[in-house]
Amino acid sequence: MVDASGASEAEGRGFAVNVPVETRGFFLKGCAHLGYGMKSRLARIFEPSSGRTVMLAFDHGYIMGPTSGLERLDLAIPPLIPHADSLMCTRGALAACVPPEARKPVVLRCGSGATVLKELSDEVLAVDLEDAVRLGAAAVTTMVYVGGVHEKESLHNMSRLINAGNRFGIPALAVTAVGKDMARDARYLGLACRVAAEIGAAFVKTYFCEPGFDEVVAGCPVPVVIAGGKKLPEAEALAMAYRAVDQGAAGVDMGRNIFLSEDPVAMIRAVRAVVHDLEKPEAALELFRTLKNERRAQGARQ
Ligand code: R5P
Repeated sequence: MVDASGASEAEGRGFAVNVPVETRGFFLKGCAHLGYGMKSRLARIFEPSSGRTVMLAFDHGYIMGPTSGLERLDLAIPPLIPHADSLMCTRGALAACVPPEARKPVVLRCGSGATVLKELSDEVLAVDLEDAVRLGAAAVTTMVYVGGVHEKESLHNMSRLINAGNRFGIPALAVTAVGKDMARDARYLGLACRVAAEIGAAFVKTYFCEPGFDEVVAGCPVPVVIAGGKKLPEAEALAMAYRAVDQGAAGVDMGRNIFLSEDPVAMIRAVRAVVHDLEKPEAALELFRTLKNERRAQGARQ
């Protein structure tokens, strides 16, 4: 029998009228009520199977110039791209060293106005959201300096970036920093993360701290990733990454501890094992050493 639309009874079985439609949640905390564009971008930045991300940060030049390890972006970054879940950089670095064929989600640094020579918190928003869209950014980011000299302006920058991102379905990452006189402890980092989430950041970057990092994460209603900070021995950097994810971090946004490693590719692969597989630091260090030795035997340059 054929109905008014021309479909036969047999074809009608495709409606599966007795099978309820599954209503899924979303794998990132605090993000269930975001729109489709936001979620699809976040699901590119964060690996859905682990709920975490290894972001490769190489935006340092926007305040530091040609800093150690990033003198030649075109040599330092391309070998690392395949091993990162997402890339955090400026639009200048993107053009300089990320081939469009890389197909990696980019978290675009949108602030400017300060360098290490002056007051870092004295930033403005420098990238139009239209340009972020043109560049295919998966997320946008700027600094919030809680307790900093220009706290209010940095919060205003963040709010404007979030508002603009909301119009385009592009999530905003808040990169938190605390004032020079404030300790990087759970109290101040927790305050900065919470403020950033409350004004609408979809995810937040902060520093790892002990004790109390688990409370920083618990008090922040959206995912928290940690910056790596200054270069540490590989064993210590891997241990820090492990303690962070073990206490609830949704991954790392790591730069110097990767690109300044004696073997950056081996290091980012070891960091991946910690972040996605919760590999213990000792096993991850062993992996780093094995990869380094293998790559050395193969004569790998990076
Ligand atoms: C700092 O604000 C920069 O945005 C870096 O991206 C961030 O600190 C992560 O890099 P690192 O692991 O070197 O600290």
